[in-house]
Amino acid sequence: MHGLSCKCKWGLTFTLFLSVICVFIFCEYLIYYPAILRCSWPKLNGDSRKGVPPLRALFLSDTHLLGAVKGHWFDKLRREWQMERAFQTALGVLQPEMVFILGDIFDEGKWSSPKDWEDDVRRFKQIFRHPRDMELIAIIGNHDIGFHHEMSWYKLERFERVFNVTSARIVTNKGVNFVLVNSMAMHGDRCPICEHVENELYSLSQALNCSVLDMQQFPRSAPIILQVQFSACLQSD
Ligand SMILES: *[C@@H]1O[C@H](CO)[C@@H](O)[C@H](O)[C@H]1NC(C)=O
Ligand SMILES: *[C@@H]1O[C@H](CO)[C@@H](O)[C@H](O)[C@H]1NC(C)=O
Repeated sequence: MHGLSCKCKWGLTFTLFLSVICVFIFCEYLIYYPAILRCSWPKLNGDSRKGVPPLRALFLSDTHLLGAVKGHWFDKLRREWQMERAFQTALGVLQPEMVFILGDIFDEGKWSSPKDWEDDVRRFKQIFRHPRDMELIAIIGNHDIGFHHEMSWYKLERFERVFNVTSARIVTNKGVNFVLVNSMAMHGDRCPICEHVENELYSLSQALNCSVLDMQQFPRSAPIILQVQFSACLQSD
């Protein structure tokens, strides 16, 4: 009698344990699939540019990977795990050819020390790992390098180095031109960084104008401008 109830107890504990494991696997892995399977690519009739297959591009924004100063380790762990699963599931299910992150990749890039920056970049690369034939393009946001008055060559260059972007660049894929612009350098006050970026944009504009005249540096299509937008209530101080 005693032996049986003991067996029962173990059976119950085991079932409970198994249920917890199942719930854990469902909530931490599987739930992302039904959520992302609800999304699909829009049907394109493709008659505007004959012969060129459509480009599958995914746009993300404001990932705000928490930093060493204001981020709590548990908050970081949860958010980054969820971001990683969501991103990896989306790559598997939707198979985009390009992914854009429209600024504010990091929360504290504007003030992080070289060591904290390295750590943030390492975690970013882990979360957003992707196949080599998929392009991941990051656009500079105010949390990555600071607003116009906080921006420095040092912070700008460390971002540009890691993400292989510049403050003004054209990325072309399947006949689509994307113009990437660093919004913080669009202050128009002729600060050295602003002036440099404006000059670069001028050259890109010339190159695009030439491609309209079929001089072929870029495909002949209207460029899509990507930059970070600030809402009116954001203060720069
Ligand atoms: C960086 O971007 C340029 C295009 O602007 C590309 O030619 C080069 O291969 C890229 N480098 C790396 C390491 O991805
Ligand atoms: C390119 O063409 C547009 C429209 O014709 C013009 O406004 C712009 O100034 C041109 N850019 C350059 C750099 O010449």
